[in-house]
Amino acid sequence: MRWRSALLLLLAAAAVVVAAAAEPASTLSGPARPVTVALGNRGHTVDLPDTDPRVQRRVTGWAPEQVAVALGAGPGSAWVSWVTGAAQMGGAVEPLDPAAVRSVVRYGLAADSLVHEAAGEALVYSQLYPFDGLQNYTSGIIHHVRLQELRPGTKYYYRCGDPAIPDAMSEVHAFRTMPPVGPTSYPGRIAVVGDLGLTYNTTTTVEHMVRNHPDLVLLLGDVTYANLYLTNGTGTDCYSCTFGHSTPIHETYQPRWDYWGRYMEPVTSSIPMMVVEGNHEIEEQIHNKTFAAYSSRFAFPSEESGSFSPFYYSFDVGGIHFIMLASYVDYKRSGRASPSWNHLDVESLSLTFTVSTNLFISFNKGIHLHRNNSGEQYRWLERDLANVDRSVTPWLIAGWHAPWYSTYKAHYREVECMRMEMEELLYSYSVDIVFTGHVHAYERSNRVFNYTLDPCGPVHISVGDGGNREKMATSHADEPGHCPDPLSTPDPFMGGFCAFNFTSGPAAGRFCWDRQPEYSAYRESSFGHGILEVTNETHALWSWHRNQDLYASVGDEIYIVREPDKCLPKSSRMAY
Ligand SMILES: [Fe+2]
Repeated sequence: MRWRSALLLLLAAAAVVVAAAAEPASTLSGPARPVTVALGNRGHTVDLPDTDPRVQRRVTGWAPEQVAVALGAGPGSAWVSWVTGAAQMGGAVEPLDPAAVRSVVRYGLAADSLVHEAAGEALVYSQLYPFDGLQNYTSGIIHHVRLQELRPGTKYYYRCGDPAIPDAMSEVHAFRTMPPVGPTSYPGRIAVVGDLGLTYNTTTTVEHMVRNHPDLVLLLGDVTYANLYLTNGTGTDCYSCTFGHSTPIHETYQPRWDYWGRYMEPVTSSIPMMVVEGNHEIEEQIHNKTFAAYSSRFAFPSEESGSFSPFYYSFDVGGIHFIMLASYVDYKRSGRASPSWNHLDVESLSLTFTVSTNLFISFNKGIHLHRNNSGEQYRWLERDLANVDRSVTPWLIAGWHAPWYSTYKAHYREVECMRMEMEELLYSYSVDIVFTGHVHAYERSNRVFNYTLDPCGPVHISVGDGGNREKMATSHADEPGHCPDPLSTPDPFMGGFCAFNFTSGPAAGRFCWDRQPEYSAYRESSFGHGILEVTNETHALWSWHRNQDLYASVGDEIYIVREPDKCLPKSSRMAY
């Protein structure tokens, strides 16, 4: 009996130890020792071909396809978007008439009781290349309908299309609105993905993400990688390596957008998805137009959040205020001169272009890269932050494409100009978490501000590991021989050179650390996705899930704990 008791005691003690070991770490424990997980066999990235049934057009006539739901600025509104009609590719393309088919959503609380109706707007966009031998594209008709006066936390059933045309309404879809705005109200799970693309890695990422049953998806840019293709449909893993000097303009193959919309429809028609642009969405074309597909295909709460821009906007989900920012449009504090701001030099390039005479030019929605120093985004951000009431939405979470605190060699410190303009403002409002993508790997920072460990700085999490076609980032800037030449780091779209040698800390006088920087808590080169579960005003569990693991496995996880008494500005603290 004594042995049996001793054995039971031993087992109980072991269970306690295992339970303690299984508990995720917390930011309250202070900065974690930097960890790098060695690269294993991650496989090769291959795009889904146009013969894959998941990307092919399955509807006929004016029947809707590529159905997607996006959130409004609050739980009472949401957008339903879809495409009707066939896109065209060719030397001469003639845009469809958006007025040919209506934009209607019938919705209600039961599948057989769609008693409400809302109407919206329709548009088409074109991607035009006035060069001999290149093909042009014009989209199907893209519809956006805003549903209003929705109940929070409620499942809505809907059909979209044109009820006046036979067989032009979709099947019944359903989505759930977000919980009411308030400090005790949170969604179950928020999936965070970046650099998704449309590869076989993408499909694994999406399958894993769906198994985690998210209520909302954040997609942090680099959506389809259509710009890794020529207009004749020839693709590559690296455009500049393969076609860089042989093409008059960086071409794109816009049908890849339709492929992506079709593949994603089972997810996007039932789970709201919020997107912010990445560099692969720039897609320059005739007349310096950029971001045409991105701006036309997705719906954003831009007017509702006062930004009036598809590139940056904000929205509330329960006790979380989300701010989506633009890495690739003007982020300057004011109209200060900048010698190389966004110097996408399409004008000078265009002098060498041969204009095709059989081009049908029509733009229903002109999109221009914001290349001036207007300071519009920054001023909007100031206004938006000033309007946040932390007693209502305690959590402040920001997202954009290009990371500030990545330690990989790829894209190392190329966003330094944006960081220098915006970091202080975000820090002054005690942003809790920053989500980014762009670098094709996973990395989570310790709490950091201005490259210094700071208990009130945000946790930066980069999830550019969604499954894109390009190479995975595997080299770290702190490894011997891998520190890039500072002059080689600025991205031409990102606003010039701002990244100088560190002036303090262990890397003072150098451009790179000689070991994993202390602000980098965990980094690993695997495909995957993240899940954020906010449980109350102060605690959120972040977990990262690798594609090569079983569905229930967690690659990295941590409790992100807010400390409002310590970190909120005095004016905001008084609301508590
Ligand atoms: Fe990117």
